[in-house]
Amino acid sequence: MPTPSTILVFDSGLGGLTVLREIVGARPDAHYVYVADDAFFPYGHHSEDEIIARVVPLVGDLIARHAPDLVVIACNTASTLVMSQLRAAYTVPFVGTVPAIKPACASSKSRRVSVLGTRGTVKREYTKRLIEDFSQGCEVTLVGSGELASLAESALSGNSVSDDAIAAELVPCFVDHGGARTDTVVLACTHYPLLLDRLTKLAPWPVDWIDPAPAIARRVSDLLGVPGSARDTAGAEMIFTSNRAHTLSQALMPFFGGRVPA
Ligand code: DGL
Repeated sequence: MPTPSTILVFDSGLGGLTVLREIVGARPDAHYVYVADDAFFPYGHHSEDEIIARVVPLVGDLIARHAPDLVVIACNTASTLVMSQLRAAYTVPFVGTVPAIKPACASSKSRRVSVLGTRGTVKREYTKRLIEDFSQGCEVTLVGSGELASLAESALSGNSVSDDAIAAELVPCFVDHGGARTDTVVLACTHYPLLLDRLTKLAPWPVDWIDPAPAIARRVSDLLGVPGSARDTAGAEMIFTSNRAHTLSQALMPFFGGRVPA
């Protein structure tokens, strides 16, 4: 009996679950290992050198331990920095998560797009290059949030997070230049879709929110090829680099397609 493919999904914390959920939906046949590098969270507060020095060897250790068929870096703050180093160091195929600037600018009617990401992501040369190459004449506003990823983690863990705290991070995305208003916001951090209902409610006016997760799931599925007859029956694994036990099983199950993460 052939074994199912193993997909390792990596993020600084729980944000990568928003990518995992789409991938599991597209490929229920695969086995999943989700790794939250919570010992180093939030990545958005670390320097580029610190992130490279942390992520490249850590992902190498995870590959050695879990022998994945494919690795998804479900973190914009890391992917905008380390994908070329990872691909140079390890032979397993990688899929990264980077700000979805191209589809956002292609679909904006007002030609005003905002990119909401961590402070690290909005500072990256990689992000600036995406804007140069794909803004298609749109005015792109970069909004670096210091707190939203932590607020999303807190909300998913069942803590109460105030509207004011979320709105303070969100409102700079909404730009009105004499009638030409932002109509599209790129969710350039995988944590933010965890708060989508709150973001929608708190938005000063309605916008399209662009989440790259469905496109990532399609890419993963293409790379894996046609599903074989093997089915994963082993559940899923969830690893925190802090070694803390997760106490969120019930809340996390939907992200794992109903599997109970061990
Ligand atoms: N989820 C991560 C991202 O997509 C970052 C959160 C953080 O660690 O700052 O950028």
